[in-house]
Amino acid sequence: MSLIKILAIVGSLRKDSYNRQLAMLAKEIVGDRAEFEILEYSDVPLLNQDIEFPPPEPVKRVREAAKAADGIWFFTPEYNHFFPGVLKNLIDWLSLPAGKERPVLIGKPAAISGTTTGMHATACAQDALVTLISYINMDVMNAPRLTIPYILEQVDEGGRVTLTKSRKYLERQADAFLAFVRKRVEDAEREAAKA
Ligand SMILES: Cc1cc2nc3c(=O)[nH]c(=O)nc-3n(C[C@H](O)[C@H](O)[C@H](O)COP(=O)(O)O)c2cc1C
Repeated sequence: MSLIKILAIVGSLRKDSYNRQLAMLAKEIVGDRAEFEILEYSDVPLLNQDIEFPPPEPVKRVREAAKAADGIWFFTPEYNHFFPGVLKNLIDWLSLPAGKERPVLIGKPAAISGTTTGMHATACAQDALVTLISYINMDVMNAPRLTIPYILEQVDEGGRVTLTKSRKYLERQADAFLAFVRKRVEDAEREAAKA
């Protein structure tokens, strides 16, 4: 089996996003055990079926990135007990079929992490995200999920996330998700060899 590919999708477009920093720490923890890319998607337009065909260039690009990934790891903040609209917009685009090809997220292994400055720790946002990505038939790793409240207690003076208390949970989730994805890649390779 070649090196698995993890695509991280961050639900915040904010430059110094704590969730983006969490994704960067996950990348560091994963190390050389997988390829790990953070998806850039701020140029993806608001979905409007008038522009569905031909798909805008940014949509083509994010589709290709999602298609190439063996697993998708969401890092999302919580806005009003939900996940942000930019993430819903992106997933809606990715849920559409590209020509004759089936939608790229079907069957993709998915993990969810999130952090907020408040006490709710993204639990409500994560439940809403699970409802959506289960509906579009992603293969969700429901445990462990990672919810980190009060992230400002785990940043340094420069506002950089240090994850002093929660790092071990991110490490556990990374181990679990790598195993979850590897198992599915191995199963698919076994099935392909039989065919
Ligand atoms: C419109 C809006 C609504 C928010 N609602 C919640 C919320 O429901 N629960 C919560 O814990 N934090 C809430 N927050 C605070 C965000 O979680 C916090 O700003 C967080 O740092 C954003 O994530 P980021 O750093 O990755 O951009 C909200 C922030 C915004 C802008």
